[in-house]
Amino acid sequence: MAPAPLIQFRQISKLYGRGEATIRALDSLDLTIEAHEFVAIMGPSGSGKSTAMNILGFLDVPSSGQYLFQGMETTGFDRSQYTLLRRHMLGFVFQGFNLLARTSAVENVELPLIYRGMDARERRKLALEALAQVGLAGRENHTTQELSGGQQQRVAIARAIVTKPAILLADEPTGNLDTRTSREIMDLITSLNRDRGITVIMVTHEDDIAAYAKRTLRFVDGHLQSDSKTTEVADDVH
Ligand SMILES: Nc1ncnc2c1ncn2[C@@H]1O[C@H](COP(=O)(O)OP(=O)(O)O)[C@@H](O)[C@H]1O
Ligand SMILES: [Mg+2]
Repeated sequence: MAPAPLIQFRQISKLYGRGEATIRALDSLDLTIEAHEFVAIMGPSGSGKSTAMNILGFLDVPSSGQYLFQGMETTGFDRSQYTLLRRHMLGFVFQGFNLLARTSAVENVELPLIYRGMDARERRKLALEALAQVGLAGRENHTTQELSGGQQQRVAIARAIVTKPAILLADEPTGNLDTRTSREIMDLITSLNRDRGITVIMVTHEDDIAAYAKRTLRFVDGHLQSDSKTTEVADDVH
């Protein structure tokens, strides 16, 4: 038997508010994402992208429908079960980096390991490895303020991957970065997908950022308008 898909949304809806004022942020969304995919999510503001990411990452629950994770029905899990799934399966990267200020890179990366109750030596070792993987060897003791935007996003990516998650969820990871730095960050995310097999799901507004993904989902009004393989662009065009 083929293994169950990594992620399956079945008729997922998310409603906010009541009565006349009800907003249907997601509207009977069906979606399957297999392990090791690299998926971009696009669509106009208010189309449900962040709502979908929050549900994908077990930060929020749907109003109705089923979310099967590795074939396991997660709807109705209690809070501690969602927390475990988040800590063990998911890494999050945001537009605004979300690092602790006045705190060193290595301490920021250690944070998710502290939640796991890992001892200090092991924690430090894994955090240093993750920082080396994102190209920040030698910057471990710099505080957030001492790093450029691109370096801060690298620290955030190291923090996301230090727990060796199956999935990296990135909500506009290059939204605050210039073009050249955006390319460097996208090359890093691409290599995590290609070389380490991490499933990447990324929201972006920019076509040239979505082009790094292998598949693009376009949202409109809380459902999928299109779901397409990203067209290959020949290298010599760049
Ligand atoms: N916490 C909330 N309370 C009420 N409405 C919300 C909330 N979060 C999102 N919405 C509404 O749900 C719809 C989808 O929002 P969102 O998922 O943030 O869209 P996107 O990320 O594509 O811009 C929007 O109409 C938004 O205003
Ligand atoms: Mg959003």
